[in-house]
Amino acid sequence: MLATPLKAIAPKLPTGILYGGDYNPEQWPEAIWMEDVRLMREAGVNFVSLAIFSWAKLEPRPGEFDFGWLDRVIDLLWKNGVSINLATATASPPAWLSRTNPESLPVDENGTRLSIGSRQHYCPNSRAYRAGSARLCKKLGGRYAHHPAVALWHLNNEIGCHSHTCYCETCASEFRVWLKNKYNTLETLNESWGTSFWSQAYGEWEEVQPPRKMMTFRNPGQVLDYTRFMNDSLRGILVGEIEALREVAPDAKVTTNGLGFWRKTNYFSWYKHVDIAAWDSYPDPANGPGDVRTAAFGHDLFRSLRSGQPFILMEQVTSQVNWRSVNTLKAPGQMRALSYQAMARGSDGIMFFQWRASEAGAEKFHGAMVPHYGPTGRIFREVCELGGELKKLACVSGSRIPARIAFVVSWENCWAIEIESKPTQFDYAAIVADFYNPLWELNIAVDVVGPDAALDDYVIVIAPALYQISQEQSGRLKQFVEKGGALIMSYFSGVSDERDHVGLGGYPATLKDVFGLVVEEWQPLRPNETNSLEVHGCSKQVSCTKFCELLELRGARALATYTQSFFAGRPAITTNQYGRGEALYIATQPSPELLRKLYSDLFAQRNLHAPACADIGVELMVRQGETEEFLFVVNHNSSKSKIDYANWKGVDILNGQPISGTESLAGFAVRIVQRSLESVG
Ligand code: GLA
Ligand code: ZN
Repeated sequence: MLATPLKAIAPKLPTGILYGGDYNPEQWPEAIWMEDVRLMREAGVNFVSLAIFSWAKLEPRPGEFDFGWLDRVIDLLWKNGVSINLATATASPPAWLSRTNPESLPVDENGTRLSIGSRQHYCPNSRAYRAGSARLCKKLGGRYAHHPAVALWHLNNEIGCHSHTCYCETCASEFRVWLKNKYNTLETLNESWGTSFWSQAYGEWEEVQPPRKMMTFRNPGQVLDYTRFMNDSLRGILVGEIEALREVAPDAKVTTNGLGFWRKTNYFSWYKHVDIAAWDSYPDPANGPGDVRTAAFGHDLFRSLRSGQPFILMEQVTSQVNWRSVNTLKAPGQMRALSYQAMARGSDGIMFFQWRASEAGAEKFHGAMVPHYGPTGRIFREVCELGGELKKLACVSGSRIPARIAFVVSWENCWAIEIESKPTQFDYAAIVADFYNPLWELNIAVDVVGPDAALDDYVIVIAPALYQISQEQSGRLKQFVEKGGALIMSYFSGVSDERDHVGLGGYPATLKDVFGLVVEEWQPLRPNETNSLEVHGCSKQVSCTKFCELLELRGARALATYTQSFFAGRPAITTNQYGRGEALYIATQPSPELLRKLYSDLFAQRNLHAPACADIGVELMVRQGETEEFLFVVNHNSSKSKIDYANWKGVDILNGQPISGTESLAGFAVRIVQRSLESVG
């Protein structure tokens, strides 16, 4: 299925690629607005996110609204060719709401109520906050939904970024309601949470509490359910805003900006509610390629959340952020390269936080499209150059990224695996990165899907550290292999079910037959500790880290064995034929090079190849339109890098240059090579 251009989803959006950023005119006198729109025109801005933090300005006193300034700024933007992603303005409640409803402020796990003076200071279940938000949504929807400039609605902002877990009494009683719905009886809850351990059994619902600060390890079932409950509460904010808005504006098209693989929020369930996926990407330039890969993963995730539909990169920074301990600048050309990386992976919108750098407040040193220095320096020049280029790329919008590999991540699993009192303290996101990064280096397209996704379109599924897995999810993976698919799973997979109860008789309880093995024991390694592997058919030994499992093979064949300690000679990487397919088990964390080799061998067997060949650090992705395809080449290295276009022949849309053969690309250089699908048959 071909993906749809964003304009087809939200018809009032500008055609082509969206370009702009968060616009906060309330921070500036109106005279500056005139300069803003002049500069926006100069930069090629066609879209801004407006009023994200404007609640206090829009409703200065309870029930007293002032929309005059917003009327003026919306008209001004529209006259200047700028469409609007209008916020529901609920991201930061005004001081009066916290004063009149002190119980709306969140409470931390120690029982401390947090103060106003920052942002996102609300309890996700606060009735006052929810009611105030709904009223504001309706006011805004009623007033602006029909304005031709208002193309999209920006629900709240980064929901759950700061205010992700509240432990107040309102949340405690809502939690009990949530639990009653789920378990029906206390008996079932006791059984599910395993409360016969440590005398934790509950006799009355009122005894059940949020997992606040405790003496030692908290009950894992309680922690897991509370995390689920908080995720649902936060999603309730999103849904509540959509419902309020659609009451007055049934056709309103909505989005909200996510935070990548944010631990607290299960976006697989969230993004079903919105029309367009969007996220904020802030790779640290100081981390070089490390963070570039995290950004790539986020793009793959947000594209996959809505089945390949283009998403919007809603925020990035032009230069440097202000919230790390050391805030490194993006080098000349690097912001452009990262923007095209997003587009290469399915973004049809390149947006920034924020348009104009603030003069005051906690983010005054955060980079912007118009920095403190003004519009004559490097930053604004790069902003204008990129804006100019994007105008040539309307042909890319709506094109899709065909992927035959599914990379499975699971928030439920993340919540369960990261709960304390495991064999080691797992960092799920880090393991995910360990298994994703070699894919990035191989320049093979992958979709990032949840454990409940349909797998019919894929030939390979990679699911690292899927500790928690339900019967149904195991069944789906089994069926996938049976029918001929290749499944790769790693250590600490298939250990527990959705109640966090361990499957007995050796791990992975429900998938032993698929992998043809049983895990008998495991050895977590310390940060600098390694074991090593002898890969069969290869004389060189390679190191492995993090976790080593002792396997007993029951039909599987070893591809690599451990060489050190009492693990020596025992299998570490195995393969098993199951049905018409193959299941690979990786019982340790292999070196990135070995993982890359394992992947590329498997991909070659399944006839999956990168679109071209390039030095590591050069990202290659293909987007397919109806009649043309586009090869994105992004050199993330600061130095020259080689590329061999193999059978690609086309024209670089950015400068009209014919492209084929090999070349050396300058640091941070980008090419978008277009060719007709007819030419490749
Ligand atoms: C987040 C928020 C913005 C701003 C930026 C700064 O993404 O959504 O309001 O605070 O961070 O990087
Ligand atoms: Zn609360």
